[in-house]
Amino acid sequence: MERTGDSRIPLKQIEGVLQPISEAHGMPNDAYTSDVYFAFERDNVFGPSWTCIGFAGDLPQNAYVKPVDFMGLPLLIIRNREGEIQVFHNVCSHRGMKLVKEAGELKGMICCPYHSWAYDLNGKLVGTPHIGGMNQHRDERFRCEKHGLKPLRSTVWMGLVFVNLSGDAEPFEDFILPLAQRWKAFVGENGLDLMRQSDAGENLEIEVACNWKLAVENYCEAYHLPGPSFS
Ligand code: FES
Repeated sequence: MERTGDSRIPLKQIEGVLQPISEAHGMPNDAYTSDVYFAFERDNVFGPSWTCIGFAGDLPQNAYVKPVDFMGLPLLIIRNREGEIQVFHNVCSHRGMKLVKEAGELKGMICCPYHSWAYDLNGKLVGTPHIGGMNQHRDERFRCEKHGLKPLRSTVWMGLVFVNLSGDAEPFEDFILPLAQRWKAFVGENGLDLMRQSDAGENLEIEVACNWKLAVENYCEAYHLPGPSFS
């Protein structure tokens, strides 16, 4: 059977989606339940492009960190001491321990709970306790500058934090241009500032126990618009 780039996804299962409307059919059930599809979509749909993973307002002050699970990948949003937001893999460069479990202000360094390697808020490795033996915290054969946190390409647009997992997506400005142009029609003379996230914490959060596609499809279809009463 013909398959996609990920050898575990049979292409025939999904090609019907792209047929003319009179012949097309929906996604197969597996696409909504299978971990294989989920990983495929992360790496082949979202990974090569720009994806929003959170709000800058969720890091309300400088020196603040927020872990994010992005489709099974542990990421870490950091607002450093100067206020700049960056995104890294939330993974220690030593043995791969998850570094940060909860969002919050950070007084000192990001410290690994396993062997206490320490990183500053720009992802730089600054502490390697006992790496050269007992009480030898440096080893000239080991270059700290080569073992910092692994950064992702990221940017903040209108208070939204975007990442590009693959690192080779088009420039963000090009990616967002069609949406930015469309939204221009809805804003006033102050430009996009009128559509930024509220500072007052007026967020709406809805948790849905379903695959992401089901939530998006459900949102996009028009059946939920107010309709005529038939009673
Ligand atoms: S795994 Fe982080 S210091 Fe060893």
